[in-house]
Amino acid sequence: MTEDKIKEVLSKIKEPELNVDFVKLGFVNSISLNGNDLKLTLGISELPENVRSETIESIKNEFKKSFPEIKSVEVAFVQGITEHINEKKSSVLPGIKNTIAIASGKGGVGKSTVAVNIAVALAEKGFKVGLIDADIYGPSIPLMFDLKGKPGITKVGDKNKLVPMEKYGVKVMSIGFLMDANTAVVWRGPMASSALKQFMADVVWGDLDFLLFDMPPGTGDIQLTLSQTIPLTGAVIVSTPQEISIADAKKGYIMFEKVNVPTLGIIENMSYYINPDGSKEFIFGKDGGRKMAEEFKVNLLGEIPINTRIRAGGDEGKPSVLTDKDSEEIFGKIASDIIKEINKKNTERVNTPDVVIEI
Ligand SMILES: Nc1ncnc2c1ncn2[C@@H]1O[C@H](COP(=O)(O)OP(=O)(O)O)[C@@H](O)[C@H]1O
Ligand SMILES: [Mg+2]
Repeated sequence: MTEDKIKEVLSKIKEPELNVDFVKLGFVNSISLNGNDLKLTLGISELPENVRSETIESIKNEFKKSFPEIKSVEVAFVQGITEHINEKKSSVLPGIKNTIAIASGKGGVGKSTVAVNIAVALAEKGFKVGLIDADIYGPSIPLMFDLKGKPGITKVGDKNKLVPMEKYGVKVMSIGFLMDANTAVVWRGPMASSALKQFMADVVWGDLDFLLFDMPPGTGDIQLTLSQTIPLTGAVIVSTPQEISIADAKKGYIMFEKVNVPTLGIIENMSYYINPDGSKEFIFGKDGGRKMAEEFKVNLLGEIPINTRIRAGGDEGKPSVLTDKDSEEIFGKIASDIIKEINKKNTERVNTPDVVIEI
């Protein structure tokens, strides 16, 4: 029994949700063999308990069939994340499995709040996460993480590179760390794009499962340039239920479609306020996100209430997902749904590789 032979067996077994084998998915996290006792840690989708135990049984049977000498097989599962295979991504961001733009048509809809809480929720699930604050108009990630000062510099080979700051298990880089808060900068598309390129190429990110980008609001030239600059796995669009916000969110969806980036889903923020008597008040209107999701056939990843805990979490630099049970539940569910959608998209990509058009 060698590692190669063990992998050969695992390449015959399909992960039940994605219907692709464990090896091809990159879901073989560890193999440990002690005499004839085998221990495996494998990635898997979020699945009902009975499906998980059936999968363990079929893995055990397959090993016993292939290696009659085997004494025991132990299988542990962790949540599996596939890699977005993309040539541009592996040259610009080697070691990073997936990149997600958190975008909105309008500013002030809670994009940064959502980006921060999703990043922390993913880290809480045990994933390696980075977050780039690419919002050149209003970098707010340093405040929302309560991070001050400038990132460190380290030499890699003969090049100086930036070391991302790290908090709550998330590696963070912000344009705010490098900009004087009181200096007005008139950004142009190429400038914003080259700043972002530096954040990708000149920062030691290491290996990450997810790198999130808090994008500048809007759907103009700058946003379009940025979404082409980053090799994106997908976009998450944040909107309030209000019509003017949804109208801009739709423009965001169309912009990403133009540059061939799939929208993983939309998040409705500030969906409702819970009154002291428990009833819901729909301050910014109702169901705007749901209707957009139906119209564009994308997931509605979540409806986030408006409350003091979420606001204070941002202002105090301690994301509410870490301190508030409701937030933990809502953002935890959103993070899971994003993982699910990414795995689905990446698996489709493996089966039908991106068409590369040379011009
Ligand atoms: N669900 C929410 N409940 C309460 N306050 C929120 C919520 N989402 C965002 N906020 C607050 O609204 C303001 C704008 O949010 P922010 O995340 O900075 O938006 P954007 O990044 O889209 O400009 C911030 O003060 C933030 O704390
Ligand atoms: Mg913001």
